[in-house]
Amino acid sequence: MSSSRDERPQAPETVAAQGLGWIDAGTGAVTPGIQPSSTFLRDPDNQYRRGRAYARADNPTFDQPEAVLASLEKGAAAALFASGMAAATACFLALRPGDHVVAPKVMYWSLRNWLGTYARDWGLDVDFVDMADLGALTRAMMPGRTRLVWVETPANPLWTITDIAAAATIVHAAGARLAVDSTVATPVLTQPLALGADIVMHSATKYLNGHSDVVAGALVAREEDDYWARIKAVRVQGGGILGSFEAWLLMRGLRTLFPRVRAAMGNAAKLARALEKNPRVTEVLYPGLAGFPGHDIAARQMVGGFGAMLSIRVAGGEAAAIAAAAKVKIWKRATSLGGVESLIEHRRSVEGADSPCPPDLLRLSVGIESADDLIVDLEQALDIG
Ligand SMILES: Cc1ncc(COP(=O)(O)O)c(C=O)c1O
Repeated sequence: MSSSRDERPQAPETVAAQGLGWIDAGTGAVTPGIQPSSTFLRDPDNQYRRGRAYARADNPTFDQPEAVLASLEKGAAAALFASGMAAATACFLALRPGDHVVAPKVMYWSLRNWLGTYARDWGLDVDFVDMADLGALTRAMMPGRTRLVWVETPANPLWTITDIAAAATIVHAAGARLAVDSTVATPVLTQPLALGADIVMHSATKYLNGHSDVVAGALVAREEDDYWARIKAVRVQGGGILGSFEAWLLMRGLRTLFPRVRAAMGNAAKLARALEKNPRVTEVLYPGLAGFPGHDIAARQMVGGFGAMLSIRVAGGEAAAIAAAAKVKIWKRATSLGGVESLIEHRRSVEGADSPCPPDLLRLSVGIESADDLIVDLEQALDIG
């Protein structure tokens, strides 16, 4: 597919809604087509002048979503991956055995497991620290050996906040790079690269796509440097690529990113306030609440709101939490987050006993339904007395 691009600077809402204004040059199509071809014609003189040879390396259906993501994150380049995990692990596999990395104790559990097992077996020296404690991060740095620091903010499932700008200063002073999992914040609310990060990662399965019908990942780089070249090589040679149809669906979802995130966030704020008053809830974990640790940092680095993820701790412990989740009618008992439909999950059942997630915690991914419907449904479910 050939495309023309409107070069006029655009607000991010316009970039997302119009997909950077790309129009198919051949047909005038406003909606991009899907290019399913796995291979591309070589010129008679043995060149590939159109720039594509094989779809593991160059899939034309990636071009528009990657350009949109690079624009929204204000990065130099973006790359789609088969999943968020494929994107995240590429950042570590692009390092070398013997390198030291630092990751948070509170983070997406599956990546924490991978870092604690496979990455160590492969030869990375992995330390986990409390990323809300910048003193702990400073002490963990090994100048000359630490190559990458991983931050997730707000971090699953306690929504721990890390100060990205302050972390970047510490990390860069030690000669390392900072990567930020910004899945929960989305480019609507936080621009990690502008705050000093080197790489932004998204599970595009979540808000970027937004309709719970694609598994995808994305990385955006501040610079197209050697490290980015190694990450791209992990994708091309390791082959963890997205399919064309999924890339197309992701582009469709990206167009409504801003209104979806803002609507869900409005619901989450109302829900957090209602749940704070609920006698069956012992704690509401939401960065938008004034008493939440990290609230002030979140207010500074998250522009326009605090996201649509929250967790509650249920009076009566694990059994009461699981019983409440069993009683919802509108909320859906399911894992994942960032879709238009609201999801509730007893997170400890997923993460296991060695997780920092308390057993009485329910994770709430707030969607774009009526806030009143969500509040009434959750309150009746919590009312197990
Ligand atoms: C914050 C975060 N990072 C990374 C991932 C991994 O993404 P994926 O499931 O697309 O591999 C997830 C998935 O739940 C996540 O919530």
